[in-house]
Order: sequence, then C-alpha cells, then structure tokens
Amino acid sequence: MDDDTLPPLDADALARLYGRSLLLTTDWSAAELDALLAVAARLRARDQAGGAAPLLPNELAYALFFDASTRTKSAWAGAAARLGMQPVIVDGASTQVSHGETAVETGAMLGMNAHAMGVRHDLILGEGNSFMREVKRGIDDYLEATADPRKVPVVNLQCDVDHPTQTLADLAWLRERFGSVDAVRGMRIGVSWAYSPSYAKPLSVPQGLVTLLTRFGAEVTLAHPEGYRLMEDRVAVAAEQAAASGGSFRVVDDMDAAFVGAAAVYPKSWGPYELMLERVAANARRDAEALRAIERRALERNALHRDWICDERRMGLTAGGDALYMHCLPADIGAEVSPGVMDRHRVNVAREANWKVYVIMALLAVAKVPDLVNRMS
Ligand code: CP
Repeated sequence: MDDDTLPPLDADALARLYGRSLLLTTDWSAAELDALLAVAARLRARDQAGGAAPLLPNELAYALFFDASTRTKSAWAGAAARLGMQPVIVDGASTQVSHGETAVETGAMLGMNAHAMGVRHDLILGEGNSFMREVKRGIDDYLEATADPRKVPVVNLQCDVDHPTQTLADLAWLRERFGSVDAVRGMRIGVSWAYSPSYAKPLSVPQGLVTLLTRFGAEVTLAHPEGYRLMEDRVAVAAEQAAASGGSFRVVDDMDAAFVGAAAVYPKSWGPYELMLERVAANARRDAEALRAIERRALERNALHRDWICDERRMGLTAGGDALYMHCLPADIGAEVSPGVMDRHRVNVAREANWKVYVIMALLAVAKVPDLVNRMS
C-alpha cells in the first residue's frame, strides 16, 4: 500500500464521496472519479500483493439483476467478499416487480436489510436509471423514517443510460496500459458500432464511454451507421465536456474513420434506436410476441451492416497499426471482431475486465468507510 507509484488519495474528494451512490459518472466530478480510481488502484495493489482488505465485515451487499451478467455479477460478489461483506444476488425476474411492485417499495424492502445495493436494469430505454433513482428514494425514505443511520449506497451495475462500473474499469485499464493517470488526455480513441447477430444490445456502454472519456481530454470519435444514434442528451454532454476538457468529440457514419490514427478502439454493437424505443411500449404492455418481433427486426437491421467488424485491415488503420482493442465483453467473435484480432488481445480484454472488481470495491469503500484515507494507509 505504500507504493509511491500509486496515485495519491484525495482526502477532500473522498470526504465528499462518503454515503454517495453512483448512478451516472456524470453525477460525479472528475476529481471524485479520480479519487475513486486511486482507491481502486490501491485495493488492486493490496490484493495482488496477497493482502486482505476487510473494510466492511458482516455487512450485506445486495445486487438486483434484471438482465444476464457474467462479469459484473461475479465482480460484485467478489468485491463484496474481499471487503468482508456477504453478497446477496437477487434475480429481478423472480421479484414482485414483474407483478407491478414499484421501485420505491422494492428499494425499501431490500434496503431494510442491505448495507449497499447494486442494480442492473439495462434493457428498456428510459426506465433503468429512473428505476435506480426510485430504489434509492425507497431506501432513503425507509432509513429516514426509522431513524436508521446506515449508509446504503446504490451502484448502477448497468442501466439504459450508462454502465459506470464498466467504463471506469475501461478508464483504469487505459491508465494502466498507457502508464499514467493522465494517459487519455489527447489520446485518439475510436468508439464504434459493430455488427452483432446475437441480440440488440443496450446503448449504455457507448454512451458511458463518450461521456466519461471526453471529461479527461480524450479525442473521441463515435462511429455508427444511420439509425443507430445514441440518446441525444448523452451525445450533447460528450460534446460539451470535450470542449471543456480540451479534448474533442465527433460523430461519424464510417467505421474506418474511428480507427484512423486511434491509439485505442472500442468496437461494439448496440440496438437500432427507433426499435429500442418501440420496445418500451411493447414491454409496458407485457407483449412478449411484439418484443420478439422487434428483436427479430433489430437483428435484420444489424445484418445490413455485416461489414462493420473490427478486423486486421481496420486495425491496420490505427496508430502504428497496433491500437489497443477494447471491449466490455462478451464480444461476438466473427461479427463484432475477427477471431485474429480477438486472439491477439484476449489477455488485454481480460485485464480490462479484471479492473471491475476493484472499481466496485472502491465504490463500496468510499461510500461506506468514513475514515478511508487512514484505513488505506
Ligand atoms: N461487460 C459486462 O457488463 O459484462 P456482463 O454483462 O457479463 O456483466
């Protein structure tokens, strides 16, 4: 923990993070995100040195998942266990939310037992982040009404707008890989749509990337075919932040343009915007047949763009022909990315993914441990 190469802890920023939830990275200042990642780096260093970090013994870390997950679910459970907490994973489909129980009530019911709460609710545009905020309200109302002094932060484990634990892991990996906390300043990064035959994926990862990387001075190009736009306000926020940070942000309809000169590329799929919107109404009607038809049409639409693949030719356009390939995983190999590119970067994407457990540990620690700076020394 005394490693001088680790970023310093920002006591003022950490004091502000005590009790804080993370529902969008744009809810936090850049200094607070830096402070979080400095804690994550220290927790990782301690873990890799074989040290323990039982900062929160005997507490319960609930996580409510309304969608499938390999990495985030296991990272939540692993992070909680490393901190001495007991993870409690709740399958959202099996809760009374499916019968109309409100998010506020769900929050109160789970929050009365929990010491932290993660939520994944990413499939329906306009709903996931609002659901998380309502869960938070339900928990806070309950704690206030019962004069319970517990801090129960809510952590966004992927919603319709953002995927903060993923994008912060991505940023931590970029900083590690390029050797500096200021690594992404001036770095050309291509975030591109890519073809997927598997399912209409949420928009939250590209939205989270463009709204995070532009805050730290990156030169971000977002590429997608017509019909695959992101939420307008997220694109506007990315442009504003790029102007403020000295970076840049542009949106193009050419995958090659995102790769030319890029030091890092992040090609991944997401669903066609208009069909993602159609899904909202069908889901509200609980119309399973309509949802299946929309999914079929989304995949047909995706198939019009099979040439949007991260392959050897496109990687050849990047800086030195050797950009860092990034992906949140799972990637559709042979569709989003060629087998050869994935093979070359298999360890890189695993190292990228491995940061998530330390980001979640840090989120729990900063929100729950009042004297964290002393405890980390
Ligand atoms: N990248 C990511 O969030 O993976 P999971 O869906 O497996 O959690």
